[in-house]
Amino acid sequence: MILKAIKNRFSVRKFKSQPIEQEKLDEIMEAGRLAPSARNVQPWKFVVIRDPEKRAQLTEICKGQKFVSEAPVTIALCANNTDYCMTCGQQAYTVDASIAGEHIALQAAELGLGTCWIGAFYHEPMAKLINLPSDYKIVGLLPLGYPDVEKGERNLKPVEEVVVWDSF
Ligand SMILES: Cc1cc2nc3c(=O)[nH]c(=O)nc-3n(C[C@H](O)[C@H](O)[C@H](O)COP(=O)(O)O)c2cc1C
Repeated sequence: MILKAIKNRFSVRKFKSQPIEQEKLDEIMEAGRLAPSARNVQPWKFVVIRDPEKRAQLTEICKGQKFVSEAPVTIALCANNTDYCMTCGQQAYTVDASIAGEHIALQAAELGLGTCWIGAFYHEPMAKLINLPSDYKIVGLLPLGYPDVEKGERNLKPVEEVVVWDSF
């Protein structure tokens, strides 16, 4: 049930060192691959970072966020076609990669794994770490692993505050 996974997902910032089964990783990446994209360009590349030496560098790249290095895997959400601006004025690649990222986060939650979207990272050292081709950008990072923390109360706005019907 998709709503169950949505309700189970929360930002996990403490991970067990327990490795992630390859079948689960494959399912999670498949969820990313199935995401919709503007003009079906599918501009993404999901870089699955498992290498301990690379992971050790993530704390500094992510402005001291140690839990990123502690996750057994971090996924870098990358995309090319960065010049494509939709009629609505939004850059398609950031929207596309973000939708794929949420597919990944929700499938992870479904499988009992945790993620946390990371926007606070320095792009250039991160690009160097993964040998990013010059026509790609990194839209976000998702550390991934078994949570070592219980889900608390989420501080969310009530529905009346976030939904308007027909017009502002
Ligand atoms: C675009 C984006 C960037 C974020 N960047 C970070 C980050 O760099 N570090 C972090 O700890 N959390 C980050 N978060 C997680 C948010 O803080 C979190 O989603 C929010 O507080 C709501 O909590 P919840 O996900 O547990 O519901 C980011 C979330 C989004 C959507």
